[in-house]
Amino acid sequence: MQSIIDELPKEFSRNLENRKVICIQGLGFVGAAMCAVVSNSLDENGENYKVIGVDLDGERVQSINDGSFPINTNDPAMDEAIKRATSGGNLVATEKPDFYSIADIVVMDINCDLIEDEKGKWVNLETIEKATASIAKRIKQECLLIVETTVPPGTCEKIILPILSKEFSQRGLDNSKIKLAHSYERVMPGKDYYDSIQNCWRVYSGLNQESSELCKKFLTTIINTKEFPLTELSNLKASETAKVLENSFRAANIAFIDEWSRFAESIGVNLFEVIDAIKVRPTHKNIMLPGFGVGGYCLTKDPYFAKFSAHEIFNNKELDFPFSDLLLQVNKEMPLSTFETLRNYFQGDLANKKVLLLGVSYREEVADTRYSASEIFYKEVKKHDVDIKCLDPLVEYWEETDVKPFRALPDDNDFDALIFSVRHSEFEDYNFEKWLDGKKPLIIDANNVLNSKNIEFYKSLGCNVRAIGRGDL
Ligand SMILES: NC(=O)c1ccc[n+]([C@@H]2O[C@H](COP(=O)([O-])OP(=O)(O)OC[C@H]3O[C@@H](n4cnc5c(N)ncnc54)[C@H](O)[C@@H]3O)[C@@H](O)[C@H]2O)c1
Repeated sequence: MQSIIDELPKEFSRNLENRKVICIQGLGFVGAAMCAVVSNSLDENGENYKVIGVDLDGERVQSINDGSFPINTNDPAMDEAIKRATSGGNLVATEKPDFYSIADIVVMDINCDLIEDEKGKWVNLETIEKATASIAKRIKQECLLIVETTVPPGTCEKIILPILSKEFSQRGLDNSKIKLAHSYERVMPGKDYYDSIQNCWRVYSGLNQESSELCKKFLTTIINTKEFPLTELSNLKASETAKVLENSFRAANIAFIDEWSRFAESIGVNLFEVIDAIKVRPTHKNIMLPGFGVGGYCLTKDPYFAKFSAHEIFNNKELDFPFSDLLLQVNKEMPLSTFETLRNYFQGDLANKKVLLLGVSYREEVADTRYSASEIFYKEVKKHDVDIKCLDPLVEYWEETDVKPFRALPDDNDFDALIFSVRHSEFEDYNFEKWLDGKKPLIIDANNVLNSKNIEFYKSLGCNVRAIGRGDL
């Protein structure tokens, strides 16, 4: 153990014996944010946690060790927190799993991907199995493993626990004393990224009472539980189910509104006005608005996890999930409604039309482009030889399409159509009147980006305006 401690920076290893060591496995959108928050939190004795971030990705590791947040973010609190913690000797990152051996708690924040290939849809649990094994081979008997990764229900008890048990047996440790908990993240990357970890309710559950208590103690030190109390569920499966149901519910609400958007457009109704009227009833407060489509890493995969769990983990292949199947399909096809609006306007003649897509990330105020609705739209218009250019103030490089978007309005203003697809607040600062300079492209508001005043403004410039969910324009 001493030799591994000797590999740590001096500043970090000072007083290590009196501090709680937290290893965070996975330095992505969730894990890197957890590193920032935990390394700036105090344990129950009022001492800073010592945090070790572990990832296979050397660039993310290097970024943290250089004192900067490894993911493009517009929340300055993230960079500040990482800088403070690394320079204060409370945070290091590494590619070496050996550091799990000195952890009091390991937090698993790795990816668990939905794959779609010739075999159909399936969840890649291999990543979880490998990650668990690398922890189980090294942790101390008394270390608590908290799984934050979104997993198909049953994963903790039927995949992770057996791996821990097998490795503990081989190492001569006591299986009956394994400490395992599940507590899922609700972090929201964006301007309040840091805050969204500390100031949000948490659900958790433990394998046994000791695991639950340790997990609760830890969460209480990093989350503002006075204002955002914790909810303990009765077992690990329930906590895993809560996460996937929570996201599936949201994805289903979004999918449900899609057909109403098309209906409203076809009969000349403004669906936003209709929904505003309905929302007055407290029972219907969280009805969704029309939009461009569902994107992001979570809502595009989590609704499949219950089906995978039933069929593959609990071996109950008879259970059907018609809503979940349908919502995934509907949400995937939603960006094509905007494509149809474009195609109908130009009466099917899209070849060489110049289009500017404003927004490529999966939602407003983030640079994350994973599974974005813009990607589906972009790939569709490309098939029709549209000359499409992209603009996103937050995205430097759009990896999924190999495109470098403009970061602001380009010099070229000669477009046949402008498509507002993401509600980035930066668009409010652009001077479109000056930029258009008398040009009158078609304007499509695909995602409720423009308010009535903006729409009137574009009309006053002589532009035609269309909007998803608005049949009144
Ligand atoms: N992104 C979000 O906003 C969000 C919000 C709530 C929950 N979640 C859930 O949190 C989990 C993580 O999501 P993310 O967006 O941070 O994913 P991500 O892909 O950005 O990051 C995952 C990281 O884990 C690393 N990793 C994989 N296997 C590893 C191993 N064996 N050892 C060390 N590192 C390993 C990868 O290299 C990667 O850097 C997912 O289950 C996701 O559904 C995400």
